Amino acid sequence: MQTITSISEMQSLTERLRTQGQRVGLVPTMGALHEGHLSLVKIARKNVDVVVVSVFVNPTQFGPSEDFTKYPRVLEADLAACETAGVDYVFAPDAEEVYPKGYSTYVVEEHIAKPLEGASRPAHFRGVTTVVAKLFNIVRPHCAVFGQKDAQQVAVITKMNADLNFGVEIIIAPTLRESDGLAMSSRNRYLTNTQRVEALVLNQALRKAVEMVTSGERRVDRLIAEATHLIGQHRRVRIIYVSIVDRLTMEAVKGEITPGKAVMAIAAWVDEVRLIDNEIL
Ligand code: PAF
Repeated sequence: MQTITSISEMQSLTERLRTQGQRVGLVPTMGALHEGHLSLVKIARKNVDVVVVSVFVNPTQFGPSEDFTKYPRVLEADLAACETAGVDYVFAPDAEEVYPKGYSTYVVEEHIAKPLEGASRPAHFRGVTTVVAKLFNIVRPHCAVFGQKDAQQVAVITKMNADLNFGVEIIIAPTLRESDGLAMSSRNRYLTNTQRVEALVLNQALRKAVEMVTSGERRVDRLIAEATHLIGQHRRVRIIYVSIVDRLTMEAVKGEITPGKAVMAIAAWVDEVRLIDNEIL
C-alpha cells in the first residue's frame, strides 16, 4: 500500500492505471475509520482492480460552530486499517493542497441539498459536493462507494455526478450497525457511555417505523408520530428532524408512503453530539 499526498502524483498514477486498463475504485472518507468504512472498502475491492481510499477532513463541509477542529484525526491508525483491508493507495492530502490560498470555486447542488441536513447545516453539502467533485477529478475513479448512513449525501452526490457528467458509478453500501443497533459513525467516539445508551433510541425509532410498515401502516403522520414519541421519552435526546422523504429527491412524502421508495431520516442531539440515522421504509 502506498500513501499519496500530492494531487499531481495521484492524478498521474490513476491516469497510468486507466491506460493500462485497470478499473479504479474510490472510497472517500474523512478518516477515523471504523468497520463501516471498511465494509465500503470490501465492496470496492469486489468491483475494481485498484482501490483508493481518500482520508481528508474537509474544512468546507463544517459550519463555523461545528466540530472541524475536534474531528478525530488518527492517520496512523487509518493507514494500518487500510493496509489490513487490502487498500492499494491512500490519498491523504493536507488542506493547503486541496484548497490553496485564493481558492474560490464551489460546486452546489441546489435542490436535493436544501431540506433536512441542508436546512440545519447550510453550507454542508456545498462543501461535500465541492470536495467530492475535486476527488473525482483527482482520482478519476470508475466507481465510488458511499454509505447509505448518509442518505441525503448519497442522493446529492448521485445527482451531482449525473448533472456534471462525471460518469462515475456510484455504489451505495448498507449502513453497518453495532450489535446494539447504533449506526457506525466516526462521531460515536464523542459519546460517553450514558449518551451512547440514549443514542440507541434513534435506531429503535427507525426499527419501530419499519415494523409498522411491515404490518401494513402507510400513513406518514402515524409513522412520524410514533418515532417522535419514542425519542421524546429520552431526556438527553433532542430531535432536529424526524422526516419521511423520497429516497432519491429527499422531498417530504405527503399522505402515504410507497414501500421501498421512502426513507425515514432522523437527526438529533444527544447532549452536544449531533447524530443522524435513517432506514428505507
Ligand atoms: O461522508 C464523508 O465522510 C464525507 O462527507 C466525504 C464524502 C468523505 C466528503 O468529505
